[in-house]
Amino acid sequence: MTRLEEDIKQAIKIAKFSKYYDNYDEMKKHSRIYQNTTENIKEYMPFLDGNYKKALLPTASGDHQLEAILNGITEITCFDINHLSKYFTELKFAAIKNLSKKEFLNFMYEDIFNIPIFTYLKNNLTEDVSTFWQELFKNCNIQEIVSNLFRYLGLQKNNAYLTGVDFSKYCAINFTRYLEDNNYRFLQNRFGNIKIKYLDEDLSSLASTLNDTYDLINLTNIYEYVNSQIFYNGDQVFTQSIINLISRLNKDGKMLITYLYRCCLKDIKRYGKKSILYAKLLCLFENNPSIKILHDEIAYKKGQRTLMDKLYAFRNAQFIKYLSDLDIRYHELNPTGLGCGLGFKDSILVYQKGCK
Ligand SMILES: C[S@@+](CC[C@H](N)C(=O)[O-])C[C@H]1O[C@@H](n2cnc3c(N)ncnc32)[C@H](O)[C@@H]1O
Repeated sequence: MTRLEEDIKQAIKIAKFSKYYDNYDEMKKHSRIYQNTTENIKEYMPFLDGNYKKALLPTASGDHQLEAILNGITEITCFDINHLSKYFTELKFAAIKNLSKKEFLNFMYEDIFNIPIFTYLKNNLTEDVSTFWQELFKNCNIQEIVSNLFRYLGLQKNNAYLTGVDFSKYCAINFTRYLEDNNYRFLQNRFGNIKIKYLDEDLSSLASTLNDTYDLINLTNIYEYVNSQIFYNGDQVFTQSIINLISRLNKDGKMLITYLYRCCLKDIKRYGKKSILYAKLLCLFENNPSIKILHDEIAYKKGQRTLMDKLYAFRNAQFIKYLSDLDIRYHELNPTGLGCGLGFKDSILVYQKGCK
């Protein structure tokens, strides 16, 4: 079986039998696809600015690439453990190149994957990407694809902030810049001059497969996924990946080491040096649905930090202790969307090479 045939087979399986793929932490070669960023990229891109041309970014939903192009990046290497993300990203890029903003929004969020529009876009896709989607549309109905093959697509049911809201569209509108009219037009004109390539690669083996060096590396919140299994030393694996990738960073280049949801400097300072055993015990609680005490919905709705928040902050801070000799900058982001008004702030940790 070719790589494409395997990808199609696995994508159909996910669309048809999504309940087997519910665990969001389980990142595999074939997982559900992000339709959008869930990070406040609009707020953090100014911290990653520079006279930068080459970037290494997770394929994810394609939003990181679009935002990097707006910052002047012209050559992008995309990597992702999930082989399926590149098929969607390529479809999204073709849609932006060939549709007006209104048509794009309609194709992505309203009349999702409308077949006549897909047929119109098909000639702008590579043969593999076109075959992938044609096979999907032949074997699954749109509802199966929308509900099962994607994360967060559709209206939210039990979300403390966003019940009844289309989470993906919400993130796209609130957290990115490419949907602003002049940026959308800029991208349409710029795409022809952008070089993009894709690697189906795990973060831990990524650096050894690269021949190039980069001005910008963005690891989004991959750390959370690397660190998701209880008795696996994700912190050390992640730390080693960072060190390996620093060798692929050009002088003055920047790396966004991790995006931190609702985590502040105080958390990093407070929890950063605690023992891994403590982190593992907390993970054990988190992964045990019978322990309800961590889910304090009332506090959450009031915008107070719950035990769950503290747990995340604690876990997110753990790899820091292995990188204490690096000059890592912390930037707090203004909440413009998710959690806005509830007092939660996301933040990022950024390393710049040659800056001490
Ligand atoms: C970290 S996720 C989260 C999405 C992110 N919050 C955003 O705003 O786009 C982005 C991508 O990273 C990929 N990913 C997760 N763990 C990975 C790993 N260990 N190596 C490579 N890619 C990984 C996922 O498959 C996903 O497509």
